[in-house]
Amino acid sequence: LRDAESVVITPGYGLAVAQGQYPLAELVSKLQEMGKRVRFGIHPVAGCMPGQLNVLLAEANVPYDIVEEMEEINDDFASTDVVLVIGSSDTVNPLAEEPDTPISGMPVLKVWNAKHVIVMKRTLGGGYSGVPNPLFTKDNTDMLIGDAKDTCAALAGKL
Ligand code: TAP
Repeated sequence: LRDAESVVITPGYGLAVAQGQYPLAELVSKLQEMGKRVRFGIHPVAGCMPGQLNVLLAEANVPYDIVEEMEEINDDFASTDVVLVIGSSDTVNPLAEEPDTPISGMPVLKVWNAKHVIVMKRTLGGGYSGVPNPLFTKDNTDMLIGDAKDTCAALAGKL
């Protein structure tokens, strides 16, 4: 993260459950103070109801102008240094682009196109759909295992 110039954060259900939006907002402020371009990419069904993640981020005073929808940001991952996937699985699952899975055809955030992906969740398990997620074992992915509130606070504390 220290070396990154551009960072995109794709939060999901796990951020909401962990109530991690406040340490995440602190992490975002620190990255911005370090001169990095930080944006959010919000999937239309991230969380358990539409708009849930937007409300959580607004609650923690994350500025609206850095929060983008999936369609706005999906082509930008290839030029992004680091993506932080926080408490998400189905909405960032490359299997959605393969046939014959329960999520086949669902539009997803193509985070795997970024130079480096850091997935912050508690296990290697999948999400709501029950589909496993091969993103977690890709060469350009690292897993930061833990509760999203704790891992966001830990990263913010280290910067
Ligand atoms: P999911 O694919 O369900 O993934 C959420 C992840 O959060 C889980 O893999 C879980 O992994 C992690 N998690 C849970 N508690 C956590 C914690 N305390 N700290 C960190 N991570 C935690 O979520 P998503 O990507 O937001 O996708 C939403 C899913 O719900 C989609 O499949 C969507 O179709 C479905 N759905 C959405 C809606 C609407 S309208 N939003 C309605 C119905 C269904 P660990 O257990 O490993 O931590």
